[in-house]
Amino acid sequence: MNTKVTIAGVTFKNPVMTASGTFGSGMEYGEFVDLNQLGAVVTKGVANVPWPGNPTPRVAEVYGGMLNAIGLQNPGIDVFIERDIPFLKQYDTKIIVNVCGKTVEDYLEVVERLADTDVDMLEINVSCPNVKEGAIAFGQRADCLSDITAAVKKKARQPIIMKLSPNVTDIAEMAKAAEAAGADAVSLINTLTGMKIDIRRRNFVLANKTGGMSGPAVKPVAVRMVYQCARAVSIPIIGMGGISNAEDALEFLMAGATAVAVGAANFINPYATEEVVKGIEAFMKEEKIQDIHEIIGCVK
Ligand SMILES: Cc1cc2nc3c(=O)[nH]c(=O)nc-3n(C[C@H](O)[C@H](O)[C@H](O)COP(=O)(O)O)c2cc1C
Repeated sequence: MNTKVTIAGVTFKNPVMTASGTFGSGMEYGEFVDLNQLGAVVTKGVANVPWPGNPTPRVAEVYGGMLNAIGLQNPGIDVFIERDIPFLKQYDTKIIVNVCGKTVEDYLEVVERLADTDVDMLEINVSCPNVKEGAIAFGQRADCLSDITAAVKKKARQPIIMKLSPNVTDIAEMAKAAEAAGADAVSLINTLTGMKIDIRRRNFVLANKTGGMSGPAVKPVAVRMVYQCARAVSIPIIGMGGISNAEDALEFLMAGATAVAVGAANFINPYATEEVVKGIEAFMKEEKIQDIHEIIGCVK
C-alpha cells in the first residue's frame, strides 16, 4: 500500500501533518505521539524577533470549536534555529517551518536565516487575523499576496507553501495569485475571524475582541474551499480546518488536497495525528485502495 505523497519534490511518508500553532515544535507532544509516524511536523509561526503575543484571555471555547487570538507569540528565529530544529532533526519526519512577520522585510529575514538550515519546506503565514500591523492585508488582497509570494520565492532556498486566509470573498482567486507569483503549494484554511461576548460581563470574551475560529464547525467551509482551489490551480494543496479523525482527513483528500493537517483536535486528543495516519491506512485496506493517489481529488 502506498501512502507517500510528494509536494514540490519533497516526499512525505504519509499525507498527515500537524497544523501550525497547535503542536509547538512537537516537544510537548513527543510524550504522546511518535513523531516518526507523521508525514511532517509544521511548526508554530516564527518571526525575525521574539513576539510576546496578545494580552489574555486569548482562547475561548465555542460551539464546535474554539477561538484563539494568541497573536503569534514565538521565541524568534535565533532560539528557533538553536532549539527547535535540532529537536525535530532527531525524528524521521519532514520539517515545515511556519513563517510570520509584520512587514515583507520581516518575512525575508526569517526566510534568509532558514536558508542554511536543514528544514524541508517553508509555510508562509500571510493570513493570521490576529496581527494588526498589516500582515492581514497580505492574505486578504490578491495583489499583496502576489507581491509577498514573489519576494519570498526569490529569497527562499526551500520550496514555499503560501497559507491562505478563508476571510476573503473568493479563495480560488487567492490560490491563483499565489500560484502565478511562484508558490510551490498552498495550504488552507487558516482560522475564520470570529467573536464571542460574555453576556454577564457585557464584554468581549477575548482581550483582542476578535479571534480565529477553528475546530470541527469550520470543516464544511474548509472542504468547500479546498475543492474550489483544487479546481483553480495545479500546484498541490495542503488541506486543514476541523480535522479530528481519518474520515475528516479523507474528505479533504477526496476534495483535492495532496496532504492534510490536524489543528485544534490536538488540544482535545493529543493522539489525533497518529490516529488519522492509522485510520487512513485502515480505510485504504478496507476499500482495497493500493495507492493514496487513487483518492486524492477523486471527487470532481
Ligand atoms: C491556538 C492556535 C494557534 C495557531 N497558530 C498558527 C500559526 O502560528 N501560524 C499559522 O499559519 N496558523 C496558525 N493557526 C491556524 C491552524 O494552523 C489551522 O490553520 C486552523 O486552526 C484550522 O485548522 P483546525 O480547525 O484543525 O484547527 C493556529 C490555530 C490555533 C487554534
